Amino acid sequence: MGCEGVNMKIESVVLDQWYPVATENMPVSGKVYHTRLLGQPIEYGLDDNATFYAIGRDTRRPLPVLRQYYTYWVSLGTPPAMFEIPEFHETDRRVLATVPVCVRASGLRVMENFLDIAHFPFVHEGTLGEMPYTAVKPYHVEIENDGLYVRGAAFHQPMAAFSHEGHMTISYVYRVCSPFSALLYKTCPLQPAKKDLVCIFVQPCDEDRSIVHMPMACLDDSASTQALRRFQQGIIGQDLAILNNQVPRKLPLFPDFEISTAADAASLAYRQWLSEQGVVYGTFQKSCHTVCLNADKS
Ligand SMILES: [Fe+2]
Repeated sequence: MGCEGVNMKIESVVLDQWYPVATENMPVSGKVYHTRLLGQPIEYGLDDNATFYAIGRDTRRPLPVLRQYYTYWVSLGTPPAMFEIPEFHETDRRVLATVPVCVRASGLRVMENFLDIAHFPFVHEGTLGEMPYTAVKPYHVEIENDGLYVRGAAFHQPMAAFSHEGHMTISYVYRVCSPFSALLYKTCPLQPAKKDLVCIFVQPCDEDRSIVHMPMACLDDSASTQALRRFQQGIIGQDLAILNNQVPRKLPLFPDFEISTAADAASLAYRQWLSEQGVVYGTFQKSCHTVCLNADKS
């Protein structure tokens, strides 16, 4: 077993958030689904009117729910207003989502991997990166009122999107909206003046287990929905091998734990931002260093 207690108290910055449990392509009306959120078992589904609902499985208490950004959201606390993503209202975009993916790691690890550009040539060779183009040019990280922004990042990619094969320099902008939610704006190869939007909404099932929900708002009129989804699903599949083997499974926030380089500026800023926000859930604590490392290896 790990270090978390069964009845652990979860800090407000994590508890009082909206969390995804499904994207709109997944639930079928009338069927009851079971999942976990922040260590709690919950049920959700679409009723006979296709209205989304969720209840705590132990308490039978109805939970606050929301349908937005092609995603069904639930909260176990008192959630704030949902963050704005204007691109979902743009009529020229195709909105779709991958099939959710289960990960044996903290959702914070998943988020950090999403913000990491340096791994592209090593993990996504042939699509998001290619040898010998491994250099990550300097970029800016800024903390603003509505989250953490990474701007000015650019990367050489052989196949940045399903409908475009051919080398291009793709610019990347990330916005971390909440501890477990982030947006990626990347150059659309078909309309280079505009950017495709890829969202990562992570459902923290437990401190060290999570489900990745990934809706997208793409500028591509030619590819089928299945082809666009399959392309992105393939990318996530490549990340899974890394994510499922992280040691420790939870994210260490203290700076001396893992070696970092200039290319890790986004990751370091994310960890710093989580620290400043007071996020503890899903983080690796020094006090349980030995037992957690042993548990993670088992
Ligand atoms: Fe990746």
